[in-house]
Amino acid sequence: MKVVIVGTGYVGLVTGACLAEVGTSVVCVDVDAAKIARLQKGLLPIYEPGLPEIVMRNQQSGGLSFTTSLASALPGAEVVFIAVGTPPGEDGSADLQYVLQVAHEVGQHMDHYLLVVTKSTVPVGTAARVNRAIKESLSARQRIIEYDVASNPEFLKEGAAVNDFLKPDRIVAGVNTTHAREVLEQLYRPFVLNGHPLLFMDVASAEMTKYAANAMLATRISYMNDMANVCTLVGADINQVRKGIGSDPRIGKHFLYPGIGYGGSCFPKDVKALIRTGREYGYQLRILEAVEAVNEDQKQLLADKVIRHFDGNISGRSFAIWGLSFKPNTDDMREAPSLILIERLLAAGAQVRVYDPVAMEEALPLLGNSVTFADDMYAAATDADAILLVTEWNAFRMPDWQRLKGLLQSPVLFDGRNIYDDVHLVKQGFTYYGIGNTAATAVNALMQ
Ligand code: UDX
Repeated sequence: MKVVIVGTGYVGLVTGACLAEVGTSVVCVDVDAAKIARLQKGLLPIYEPGLPEIVMRNQQSGGLSFTTSLASALPGAEVVFIAVGTPPGEDGSADLQYVLQVAHEVGQHMDHYLLVVTKSTVPVGTAARVNRAIKESLSARQRIIEYDVASNPEFLKEGAAVNDFLKPDRIVAGVNTTHAREVLEQLYRPFVLNGHPLLFMDVASAEMTKYAANAMLATRISYMNDMANVCTLVGADINQVRKGIGSDPRIGKHFLYPGIGYGGSCFPKDVKALIRTGREYGYQLRILEAVEAVNEDQKQLLADKVIRHFDGNISGRSFAIWGLSFKPNTDDMREAPSLILIERLLAAGAQVRVYDPVAMEEALPLLGNSVTFADDMYAAATDADAILLVTEWNAFRMPDWQRLKGLLQSPVLFDGRNIYDDVHLVKQGFTYYGIGNTAATAVNALMQ
């Protein structure tokens, strides 16, 4: 089967590479000529573990190719995936201009039956608009060609995208015709051999599933951040509470980690878009409004703690930031909480030295020379008044604490992800702050 994928961002590139990996013939299309030229040389626009190898292998075998021309990609194709960006507009709604533009172009160039599949996260009703756009283009050409429109949202996590695609928990497909169902069944057969389901449903339900999933996960995080903040007030330890509640299989132990707020390209955008959809239909999604508000506050929490520790004045002080990307194993800086934290510290007159194992190149245009980019985690900590752990990269998990004590002005650590053994650190002579009154707070108190 031949498949065309329009859009070579996270979703498009991973989809294209992984479909090619199981023997589908794939052509990836993007309007960005520079990006396509780089991809043709095997150079990827994103950092994603495992992806370069798959792209390279399938490019060499001829199963995966890149072009800027949709028209030249369409002959012989059976399926077209639309995987272009849907950035949030001013009002929080997903901006569909790129999706609809692609739909129009498909209508302008198609010459035989096509299954057109929306893979970008798009609001309920988008497949219907894609359908109309194709129809308009066809009637402008005075052509009658059959096609179907389906919705197939993607659930991949950045940093684990290849594995998520190759071994999905489930694949969701919204279809209107038996033929569309059969085509997708054939396309995805290699991925559901592990027994995980390919769930067929109507198009609107598939579109809604993606938002409902991301909004539920964002809700879990804001809920745990709220619980962590109450733990601080009542003297409980969120790490213990997390383990205690996560042992209940109805709750489950995953995705219960408090931190400095969720970021990335999906949660903030999708929560906003779903709130907006609710409003359009006259329904106020009160839980999600609270999820968003809690997240906004949580992004300020670490800066608040730092300023409080230094008695309200951090002017002239210097801080080491460990980690910049919104989560580990990605260089993605979209909606990264590190940016808000750094902005607060700089506004209060502090100096900031940052280190991230992968994301510094992405962060450079955003931070410019307002901060110093360090060569490693120890260089960032040299002469600093405190370390602020922002992204839980593995590289930060087991530092040489005694060496750090020698480098720092004062041994203070703000752990934005609760990754360290707090009691151990206090015994090493560090002042430790976690999220949600971890055990060290009690040890700190005992020692005073
Ligand atoms: C998410 C969804 O997981 C994925 O299914 C969807 O397709 C796209 O959005 P992603 O944005 O790559 O994927 O990141 P994810 O690993 O889900 O983390 C999102 C944010 O939540 C990060 O900022 C992360 O630090 C935060 N998070 C996650 C927590 O604060 N606590 C947790 O327990 C889990």
